[in-house]
Amino acid sequence: MSSWTVLKHPLASHHLAILRDASTKPAQFRIQIDLLATLLAIECLQDLQLSPNSVQTPMGLAAAETLKQRVAIVPILRAGLGLVSPILQLLPDAEVWHLGMYRDEETALPVEYYSKLPADHPSDIGLVLDPMLATGGSIRLAIGALKKWGVRDIRVLSVIASTPGLTQLVEEHPDVRIWVGAVDPNLDHRKFIVPGLGDAGDRIFNTRS
Ligand code: PRP
Repeated sequence: MSSWTVLKHPLASHHLAILRDASTKPAQFRIQIDLLATLLAIECLQDLQLSPNSVQTPMGLAAAETLKQRVAIVPILRAGLGLVSPILQLLPDAEVWHLGMYRDEETALPVEYYSKLPADHPSDIGLVLDPMLATGGSIRLAIGALKKWGVRDIRVLSVIASTPGLTQLVEEHPDVRIWVGAVDPNLDHRKFIVPGLGDAGDRIFNTRS
């Protein structure tokens, strides 16, 4: 059995096909990222805990349940920003903590340039968001930061991952759960996912040179 969950929903397959297509323009690309983030979040958050509650409807009192846990959304800049809005729609009370990282073009290692995670009072759940998990270096660095903060339940949401990146991530962090839209087998000589979808950040923000 895999240590990661791959979306099986036919809508995920359909929307991934449009996302991967090189002819998909940035506006449509952002919509596809949005849809896939929603599908990933719904799959990943099935075990959220609830507190019993009640609400006054126009007709009387209804028993209700509301979310109980504190959830932190942690997008990795830049591309992870594309996943934030749809997940905040589902989790309006979530906190958003940004982590800035870019991958050095020579070494393919992540370089952190922004982090403001608090030192204490960790959230109950930390959701690391990055549409691409190539070598997994950026996400592993983000997981390290969340563990330092003290988050015990760390989950990763990524649209496309590579088999080598996932394998190394699971080896280093067997306690972290991972949800992905698709798994591609290879990385090329520049450590890009093949066939992947290209550079997600550039396609979201229309900065392809
Ligand atoms: C890309 C991507 C991930 C990272 C994946 O970001 O969005 O953050 O690389 O690679 P890894 O798994 O090997 O670490 P990039 O460095 O291009 O920055 P950007 O999001 O600003 O475009």
